[in-house]
Amino acid sequence: MNSSSIVAETFAKLQQKSRTAWQSLRDRPLILVGTATCGRAAGALEILKVIKEELEKHGIDAQVLEVGCMGHCYAEPLVTVYKPGFPPISYGYVTEGIAGRLVQDFLGGDDPCLEFALAALETNDMVPALTDFPRGMIEKPIILDKCGLIDPEQIEHYIALGGYAAQARALTREPEWVVEEIKASGLRGRGGAGFPTGRKWETCRLAPGEKKYVICNADEGDPGAFMDRAILESNPHEVLEGLAIAAYAVGARQGYFYIRAEYPLAVERVKKAIEQARQAGLLGTNILGSGFSFDVDVFQGSGAFVCGEETALIASMEGEPGLPRHRPPFPATAGLRGRPTVINNVKTLAYVPHIIERGAQWFRETGTAGSPGTAVFALAGKVINTGLAEVPMGTTLRQLVYDVGSGIPKGKSFKAVQIGGPSGGCLPEAALDMPIDFDSLSQAGAMMGSGGMVILDEDDCMVEIARFFLDFTQKESCGKCTMCRLGTRQMLDILEAITKGQGKPGDIELLLELAEDVKAGSLCGLGKTAPNPVLSTIRYFRDEYEAHIKERRCPALMCQELIAYYILPEKCERSCDACVGSCPVEAIYTNEDRVKVIDQQKCVKCASCLEACPPQYKAVVKLSPPELVAERGRKV
Ligand SMILES: Cc1cc2nc3c(=O)[nH]c(=O)nc-3n(C[C@H](O)[C@H](O)[C@H](O)COP(=O)(O)O)c2cc1C
Ligand code: SF4
Ligand code: SF4
Repeated sequence: MNSSSIVAETFAKLQQKSRTAWQSLRDRPLILVGTATCGRAAGALEILKVIKEELEKHGIDAQVLEVGCMGHCYAEPLVTVYKPGFPPISYGYVTEGIAGRLVQDFLGGDDPCLEFALAALETNDMVPALTDFPRGMIEKPIILDKCGLIDPEQIEHYIALGGYAAQARALTREPEWVVEEIKASGLRGRGGAGFPTGRKWETCRLAPGEKKYVICNADEGDPGAFMDRAILESNPHEVLEGLAIAAYAVGARQGYFYIRAEYPLAVERVKKAIEQARQAGLLGTNILGSGFSFDVDVFQGSGAFVCGEETALIASMEGEPGLPRHRPPFPATAGLRGRPTVINNVKTLAYVPHIIERGAQWFRETGTAGSPGTAVFALAGKVINTGLAEVPMGTTLRQLVYDVGSGIPKGKSFKAVQIGGPSGGCLPEAALDMPIDFDSLSQAGAMMGSGGMVILDEDDCMVEIARFFLDFTQKESCGKCTMCRLGTRQMLDILEAITKGQGKPGDIELLLELAEDVKAGSLCGLGKTAPNPVLSTIRYFRDEYEAHIKERRCPALMCQELIAYYILPEKCERSCDACVGSCPVEAIYTNEDRVKVIDQQKCVKCASCLEACPPQYKAVVKLSPPELVAERGRKV
């Protein structure tokens, strides 16, 4: 038997065993509880405990599995029930009481408790399915397809649903074929820059040297981003398989996951996945009898944003301070310990098995010509349905915010979206119909980045948002380059002054000038992109900067030093004392007309009175500039 047949036969046996284990799950009712970090934060571990206790108490025979994140983080804790005779149904916002009802009434009886159902996972005539909602019609899960549906700690589940078949397939072909297939697919790196993955692999494959490495970059330090964490917690084998295929393609025998230590669950689940893959013969010496050997270790990063930059990441793995290095040489020719090294993002690697299994052409059928495939976004901020979404490249921002995210909460209006993290930019309402892909985003002054998307509403001040992101990059600058270290500090000082009403004429021009200097004088992507949030907010929201500088006014009523709280005498219901009791500094007094008045000298602008004032009165308002209070007072 030649080695290809041995690989095929060995893998077929493994697949058969896994399928049998997977099928056996369906012999009796099955309950899936999402226990990724988003689920745990919402109390999923308590729900899991209640479900197990209730099953025991009522003597019900059912399997309970811990699964990862389905992307519906807004509705966690999330529980999915498979019961013969019913479609699989997911339940959201599950409380201990609902968990008890699901066990007693649904599993113990035949009431599927549809009042708590989020959606069915398959089309049926009983409950609307996920795909019946606008969101379901837009989403196209490729790399999230198994997330939340399999136990990430059981390799059999992944294999039974097609996992590791791509690795087995790749091992029966030449490494060059694998490189060509990835090149033909047009896959671009999902770590931020969108560099063609096949070209990177080819460079590494052709680089001279016996020893080569592959690294999965799971540093994910952008505020608002949590896609990579969710994937590693929900389906680590998919990424591990991608890494093993990359290793085979470039000729590496050792790989690493670089995961930030603040992601303990991801670290734990990846370590378990590596161990299980070793035991199954999918890692280690002579994988599946192919003659190819490859093993993987986990390296935990200490949480510096700059260590996600590939050369800083390598430095930190070598035991050096995590400082970026000059490129070229690029890691693909001289990376870890000076050896050719492929570094890819979690999502990039997760696509690889799908492309090898279904073909480059299949991948190109989704997305745009320049950005094939899908994009995974983490929706955060002022959006109703926060969580993960995987949509074809070319989907518009409007579809993402309104169809996937269900719009802006509390009836507020959309203002902007900060896309691509601190390296990205803020896009205004006028950009809502722009298709999202690598090229259109950079033309609009933003960046795909790693997929973090923070939605902003009318209450968000764009100067303050720019200040927030610059404050982040300024603090995370490693300090190696003068312009990144000091130029960002100067820009931050100017922004801070503007948000405090101390802006000066010419500040906007100075910011624009400094931004160019910082970009030009920075070695790595951190400094080169740090000015982006400032540049994009000036480009699209210049009037807000001008209002701060010229009128000492914050149009969004967000900048503390430019606002004052004020009680409208005509709306104050004089016998109501709600605001008085809420004030932590006793700044509210009753005047001779029994109207409540705020002592502006004492007020610490905590907003408690605004929240305490009953909605039928809405007497407490914010005014900007604060001088308006005196003006109003004179009119009373
Ligand atoms: C400051 C900075 C932080 C970065 N952080 C990450 C990160 O957390 N994850 C990541 O995959 N790439 C990050 N990158 C990009 C990496 O340098 C590198 O381009 C990427 O890992 C390559 O993978 P890809 O080709 O699959 O996109 C960062 C870049 C910079 C400049
Ligand atoms: S640009 Fe900033 S973060 Fe990057 S190397 Fe220079 S100082 Fe360090
Ligand atoms: S904003 Fe806070 S401190 Fe000021 S009056 Fe209202 S409750 Fe008191």
